[in-house]
Amino acid sequence: MTRRPLILVAASGLAREALSAIDAGGDRVVEAILDDDPTLHGTSIGGIPVLGPLPRANSYRDDAEFVVCAGKGSSRSSIVSALAAHGVSRDRFASIIDPTVRIPASCKVGVGAILLANTVLTADVTLGDHVVTMPGAVITHNCVLEDFATLCAGVTLGGAVHVGQRAYLGTNSSVRQGVRVGSDSVLGMGAALLTDLPDAECWAGVPAERLR
Ligand SMILES: CC(C)(COP(=O)(O)OP(=O)(O)OC[C@H]1O[C@@H](n2cnc3c(N)ncnc32)[C@H](O)[C@@H]1OP(=O)(O)O)[C@@H](O)C(=O)NCCC(=O)NCCS
Repeated sequence: MTRRPLILVAASGLAREALSAIDAGGDRVVEAILDDDPTLHGTSIGGIPVLGPLPRANSYRDDAEFVVCAGKGSSRSSIVSALAAHGVSRDRFASIIDPTVRIPASCKVGVGAILLANTVLTADVTLGDHVVTMPGAVITHNCVLEDFATLCAGVTLGGAVHVGQRAYLGTNSSVRQGVRVGSDSVLGMGAALLTDLPDAECWAGVPAERLR
């Protein structure tokens, strides 16, 4: 068991799920959850106290590690920037990987990842920093997920799909092989994406089409 203190940031539903994955692994102890929302201070999630605000990150020892648990990639990105302003550098972020998840040697996972139960990485997959995958996400060969991308439960990516920064793929959506999902885009739950989705657009449906 690593003794480095682990601090979760953002008292979210994802934090609750991350705690469940940590419990299943049995090799880390979470010291606290930090959140800027004063109404949450003094509450707890899964028995872990919610403290804050974020500048409190300064008060932890240099060996403390952090994982940002906001569900939306854009929120994780803002929090990482805020933590950087308080001296938390990239090497201070840990990843939470459920023990059901196998990372093949050909795959790379950046810092700050949260990979929930039964996420599958097949081969030659590259995940950037602070990527989140929810239960049962399937990422097949040669896929690339850029920083802060989010795959909700049951998302399936065909081979060589490229997912841009902060993109959010809704529950049970699927993406045809070789397709590019733009940065800051949203793919609705249940969608089947057959063609490239431009940056900052929201698409849904089968086949997926532009909503806005
Ligand atoms: C696509 C999405 C982002 C759109 O949200 P929204 O902007 O609030 O859209 P609305 O609910 O106002 O719906 C707008 C229209 O799109 C349709 N629509 C919304 N989501 C859709 C979806 N997933 N598939 C097909 N059509 C959808 C609505 O029926 C509505 O159609 P109408 O204008 O003909 O009535 C959202 O519905 C979604 O799928 N989010 C992902 C949810 C998810 O996976 N959550 C996981 C949490 S862990």
